[in-house]
Amino acid sequence: MTGPRAYHQVPVAEVISETADTCSLVLDVPPELGEVFSYRPGQFLTVRVPSGRDGSVARCYSLSSSPHTGDLPTITVKRTAGGYASNWIADNVRAGGVLELLPPAGTFSPQALDGDFLLFAGGSGITPVISIIKSALAAGRGKIVLIYANRDERSVIFGSDLRRLAAAAEDRLLVVHWLDSLHGAPMVAAMAALARPYVSAEAFICGPDPYLAVVRQALSRLGVPAKGVHAERFLSLAENPFEATEPAGGTAATLEVCLDGQTRQLPWPAGTRMLDVLIDQGLDPPFSCREGICGACACQITGGKVEMAHNEVLEAEDVAGGYILACQSLALTPEVRVTYE
Ligand code: FES
Repeated sequence: MTGPRAYHQVPVAEVISETADTCSLVLDVPPELGEVFSYRPGQFLTVRVPSGRDGSVARCYSLSSSPHTGDLPTITVKRTAGGYASNWIADNVRAGGVLELLPPAGTFSPQALDGDFLLFAGGSGITPVISIIKSALAAGRGKIVLIYANRDERSVIFGSDLRRLAAAAEDRLLVVHWLDSLHGAPMVAAMAALARPYVSAEAFICGPDPYLAVVRQALSRLGVPAKGVHAERFLSLAENPFEATEPAGGTAATLEVCLDGQTRQLPWPAGTRMLDVLIDQGLDPPFSCREGICGACACQITGGKVEMAHNEVLEAEDVAGGYILACQSLALTPEVRVTYE
């Protein structure tokens, strides 16, 4: 059984209405949690939303603030039609209230802020992207191009912030709006034409799956290798990290793991995630979200087989290359060998 994760109570300093269906929650993180809630641009927080009598659901919302500008950490939430959590947050969270949160997680974040960036955002996919923009403008020196697709003008989130940032950045930030109401749905050829002058920049895409697919194809048509493109889908969790969950299959195995320069053999009980096996044995493997969405726990399998309960981060070529997510892996063979080296 996977135990529930500890969450932190964080006061909400302010609720800002961004559009008719989107609001930003500014967080007043207490000083003793400052370290726990330090974050990189593009990361997200997991919110525990009460549900039923004692239950909860968990949802991830990207930080739209920058850790480089001195602003309070802020997440931005868009109501989704029929979505319980986003509507609950929009209807119930007010300034002075409290959010129950897991620490920041996610790998949709530049390694360095100094280069040029080619950023694509679709709808509320702008949230982590504007965090990268603010951060690169504040702490980097390169040029930034944002291609931002929306249904129509009313659905543009952060329109005035982007105008203000572009005006203050002089020629460092170029924002290109794509409105379906004017231009039709984004197509590969049109995205490729917009991106062509900027293909040497580091590319990031966040938005709904169809938008991601179109932009990926456009970049591949321009010869940008898929490996160099950072993409973030809208995040959904396979499990609720705030509730205990039942084990899901797998077989008992022996795990041989190479970690921190040492090789060890460990018993791997059936139905236990590999990451839990390592932690239970006192090892210190890397991990963050534990939900199969950040990739922090990735390692390489060198013998045997596992199955992953959930994977939103490894691409098919990563999996073909033997990469697995320890937080999602159950043993399928009596012996499994992995390496973190
Ligand atoms: Fe995030 Fe495993 S810890 S994918």
